[in-house]
Parts: sequence; structure tokens; C-alpha cells
Amino acid sequence: MAYCFGIYHWRRRLRSLLVAAGVSALALWIGMRGSTRESSRVVHACCLVAVVRSAVDAGRTVSGALSPPPWVVERYKYDALAARLPLGRADRVLDVGCGTGRSLVGLAPHLGGSTTLLGLDVFDDRVILGNGPALARRNAALAGVEVTPLQGDAARPPVAANTIDVVTACRVLHDLPPPDADRALGEFARVCAPDGTVGVLELPLTPDEVDADPAAYWRERTLAAGLEIERLDRVDRCGAEGRYVVIVATPVAE
Ligand SMILES: C[S@@+](CC[C@H](N)C(=O)[O-])C[C@H]1O[C@@H](n2cnc3c(N)ncnc32)[C@H](O)[C@@H]1O
Repeated sequence: MAYCFGIYHWRRRLRSLLVAAGVSALALWIGMRGSTRESSRVVHACCLVAVVRSAVDAGRTVSGALSPPPWVVERYKYDALAARLPLGRADRVLDVGCGTGRSLVGLAPHLGGSTTLLGLDVFDDRVILGNGPALARRNAALAGVEVTPLQGDAARPPVAANTIDVVTACRVLHDLPPPDADRALGEFARVCAPDGTVGVLELPLTPDEVDADPAAYWRERTLAAGLEIERLDRVDRCGAEGRYVVIVATPVAE
């Protein structure tokens, strides 16, 4: 059985495909009604341009939806994070923003055999088609791990203080408004055991309202949340611009 991670921004993409199909159908219909008059050549040319443009738009939409395809895990980025975390000896791991399970699957080979794995997400299927506990569970099981999905907000995780050995957040913080991202980082510090570790894998992005260098921004916000940074690395993104920001942090000793 193959993984199925859903389609990101599926409603926007579906809308684009429907618009492209509608414009093409209209252009073809107008083109076919052309008469023998001279002006019909102009109409035919315009219709042809409209059909070609719609086909190009549809192609871009489909290629965006397949980058990466919904069944593919680009392991290198999770490997880069996992290699910097003590996952093998962690009893309890919390993956914040696990979604349909790509990060769970990416982290799975690095977990110890008896790890309790929790996956927290708002599970909003209006953004990612199929985003829900069922897909997270299914994909994790295919990777050989059992996950307990928790529906909730990263800024208010329903998890007791000091109970998690490794907290991970892969490609999620940039989605949050700045106060929520700050609050989420503070919550990572709260739920993390005193000798635990927080690992952040972030795209080269900041929240929408923020114009800053992503690595510098996430470094500063991590420190502001009461975490101490053990290391911060930038990892090449295969085939894409910018580099991932990988932060390994620990709660500041009281
Ligand atoms: C780009 S996906 C990343 C999924 C997965 N971690 C990965 O690496 O592929 C971002 C995920 O963050 C989740 N998310 C967005 N805002 C959230 C919030 N406030 N609390 C928890 N999860 C959130 C989304 O539902 C989505 O599943």
C-alpha cells in the first residue's frame, strides 16, 4: 500500500482547474460557432490563445499539486532533523503539526521500538485534502509506528507539562500568526521534560506579516520562548530555493 498525504491547498487548486476548464470550453464553443466572415479569424485566434493559456494554467496547477506527489516522502529533511535529536532513546515524542503524517513517516525510522508517539494537529481538511487523524494513523502504521493523534492548536497543546522527551515541529510554525507561533514555542518549552529536546524544521519562511531572515527570526523567537539553542543549521532544499532552518533547543534550566 502506498502512502497518501493528501493534496495541499486543494480547494484553490480545484478552483483554478475549474476556471481553466470553463474558459477552454467557452473559447471552444465560441470558436466553433465562427462564420466564414473575415472577423471570425480574429475570433478563432483569440479562442486558441485562451485555450492554450488555460491548458498552461491547468498544467501549472497539476504540477504544483504533485510537488511532491501526495504519496512521496522527501526523507532527507526529516533525516536532517532526526540526526540532530535524541529520538532513539526518547520514551515520549510529540510531533506538532503532524497533518496527514509526512513528518511522522519521516521520523519513524529514527524512533526507538517502545516510543509513545503523539501527533498534534488542527486537522483542517479545508487546506489539505484528507487532513485528519485517520490518514495520520494510516500513514504512520505503514511506516511501522503507532501514533496517537491529538486534535488541537499548537499554541494550546492538550499535553501535560514536562512530559515529552522530544517535541518536533516540522514546517508548521510559519503557518501561524506571530503571537501564536510565539505561544506555540513557549508551549514546546512547557511540555518538554527538563532534560528533553525541541526540534524545529522550518521552511525558509516567516509568518505572513513578518519580513525578516527566517533563520534569524526563528532563532530569536525560540530564545524568546525560554529555550536555549543547542544548534541551528541550514539544510539545502533539494530542487528548491532557500534552505530549511533546523533548530535544536532545550528548556532553560530553572
Ligand atoms: C505544511 S503541513 C506540515 C505537515 C507535516 N508536519 C510535514 O512535515 O509534512 C502544516 C501542518 O500544520 C498544521 N497546522 C497549521 N496550523 C496549526 C495550528 N495552529 N496548530 C496545529 N497544527 C497546525 C496544518 O493543519 C498542517 O497539517
